[in-house]
Order: sequence, then structure tokens, then C-alpha cells
Amino acid sequence: MLDFLKELPKVELHAHLNGSLSISTLRDLGEKVYGENTEEFLELCARFIKFDRNSKLEECFEKFAFVHELTSTEKGLRYATEFAIRDFAQDNVQYVELRTTPKANSHYTRREYLHYVVESIRSAQTKYPKIMVKLLASINRAEPVAVAEETVSLALEFAKTDGDIVVGIDLSGNPARGKFSDFIPALRSAREQGLKLAIHCAEIENPSEIKEMLAFGMSRCGHGTYLSKDDLTHMKRHNIPVECCLTSNVKSGTVSSYEEHHLKQLMEAEAPKVLCTDDSGVFDTTLSMEFHLATQTFGLNRSQCIELTKEAVHHSFASSEEKQKMLIKLEEFLKRNP
Ligand code: IMP
Ligand code: ZN
Repeated sequence: MLDFLKELPKVELHAHLNGSLSISTLRDLGEKVYGENTEEFLELCARFIKFDRNSKLEECFEKFAFVHELTSTEKGLRYATEFAIRDFAQDNVQYVELRTTPKANSHYTRREYLHYVVESIRSAQTKYPKIMVKLLASINRAEPVAVAEETVSLALEFAKTDGDIVVGIDLSGNPARGKFSDFIPALRSAREQGLKLAIHCAEIENPSEIKEMLAFGMSRCGHGTYLSKDDLTHMKRHNIPVECCLTSNVKSGTVSSYEEHHLKQLMEAEAPKVLCTDDSGVFDTTLSMEFHLATQTFGLNRSQCIELTKEAVHHSFASSEEKQKMLIKLEEFLKRNP
């Protein structure tokens, strides 16, 4: 089964750029950024050892700070983007929607951040032609609303010149921080001007926020862990898929075990869903492994895995022609693996 899943031309819809760098990729990145055998590089390797692969949600956010150090320069960011795409391509992911929070520091502005990521996506597409890549600009809910407004206006600006890559907005960040309603005007403006919205929703228990988010609407829902039965009916009625990230949810502690993962309720309710990695690097997984976990835990068979991939094609933010191309690749795979 794992071989079949590794070969399957998969579709990844929920992948944070800085969370998608595995330990070995971070090592590659460290080598590029600091140079081999430099003091900085050796210090970095020593810090890897302290990485706890089963840390809880709050600790995961500390891990991101660590990765962000490595991507805090133009060079680091460009290589990180290329390596993340390389790793997804190696797992036979045929389409990935990366999402990332544009950042500003002494090395780059938010506009430059997006520019470097978009350029690296373009060059990675030449190097790894089998994978198609899109980008969502993430709003970090722990940051001020003014930053969210800037992120939306930059995403709109890039969508005009690089609309084949920049397709939407993601709302993410520590779910215990920030107030959703504060971000509504920025999100609404993005949607009205043609950007798609993927929103981290119901990642933790917060019924009033979940209600607000569902009333506002979204194209896709990140995690959806605490959606009620009625909410699932809503998702089904409005054809909003839940982006299920099994390893991320269990390792970060928002779901207590794989068996209790809400993928089961989503399948029973026949509600829309897709399987994703979230942060394949931080949580030490791949999309093939996520599918494998779903087959092991919930007994999904090969044709259900194909159906889930088709669902992901359908809910992707790709154009109709691009979706058609993905389906053709799937058909070709099925001919080789009847
Ligand atoms: P980046 O936006 O490329 O820097 O990716 C890492 C960032 O994505 C983190 O700092 C968080 O803001 C966000 N993120 C990653 N995983 C999660 C999650 O599970 N919930 C909420 N936000 C997340
Ligand atoms: Zn996420």
C-alpha cells in the first residue's frame, strides 16, 4: 500500500512553507546559508538534537521561530522555497499550494519576501517540472490588523502580475491569539477582489469564533477539529472541504489519537475533505505517510485514496485546465496501477 501511495500523483492543499522543511532539509539549508564546517553551521546542527518530535501546539510555534532564523535572509528564503518544492516533488506530489506569511526584517520587506518566494517558485518549476506550485499569502492572526491589510494588498498586487502563482489568502497563526472579527474587513476585501480564502477554523474549541467564521464563509477550512455535527452539515451544504492534517493534529495535541481524528466523522457524514500535511517538516511526515496513516487507522482502500485525491483536485485553487491536467495524470497512474 505504501508503495502505491508513494507513486500516487498526490495533491497537497495545506502546506506552510517554513513548516515544510524536514530536519535533513534544514541541514541542507544551513549548509547553504552558513557554509559547511562553519561555527554557525555546527551550532545549528547541535540545536537540531534538541528538537522534540512530539511537542505540543505552543511548543510547535517555538519551532517555527527556529526555522524562521534560517529563512531570514534572501538567500535562505530562496533556498527554503526551492527545497520545500523539491521535497514535495520527491514524494510524487503533482500539485502543491504553499502558504507563507510575508515577513519584514533588516534583510527584506514584505513585498520583497513575496517577490523572492514567487521567483523561487518559478525557477523551481523549471528544475522540477512534474510539480505545479501555487501560493497563498498567510495572515498571521497574532499580528496586528495593519499587517493583515498590507498582506492582502500585496497579494492582490502579485495576483495581477503573477496570477498563475498567487491565488489566495490563508488565515493562520496561533489560534489562541488574535480576534477573527478584526480580520474580516481585510479578508472580505481579498475575496471581493478575486482571491480565494483558506481559513484555519475550529483548530481549538471556540464555538463563537467558529460561528463567525462559518457565517463569513471560506473556500476551504483548515483543520476543522471542533466542528459540531450541525457545522458538518453546513460544510456539506456549502461544499467547503476540511483540510485534515492527521499527524499535525495528533502531535500538536489538538486531537488525542489517530483513532479519534475527525476524518472519521467527515467520512461518515460524507462531508467534503482533503488530506494534507500542514507542516511536514515540523511534524516529520509526508503526504504519502498521511494517506498511509488514514488507510491504517480508518481502513481506507486504494480507490478511496484516489477519490480523496480527486476531491483535492476539485477543491484546489487551480484553473479548470490545470485541474484537467491533474486528473489526466491520475488516470495515467491508474492505467499503470489497475
Ligand atoms: P510560514 O508562514 O511560511 O512562516 O509558516 C509557518 C507559520 O505558519 C507559523 O509561524 C504559523 O504562523 C503558521 N502555522 C503553521 N502551522 C500552523 C497551524 O497548525 N495552525 C496555525 N498556524 C500555523
Ligand atoms: Zn496550518
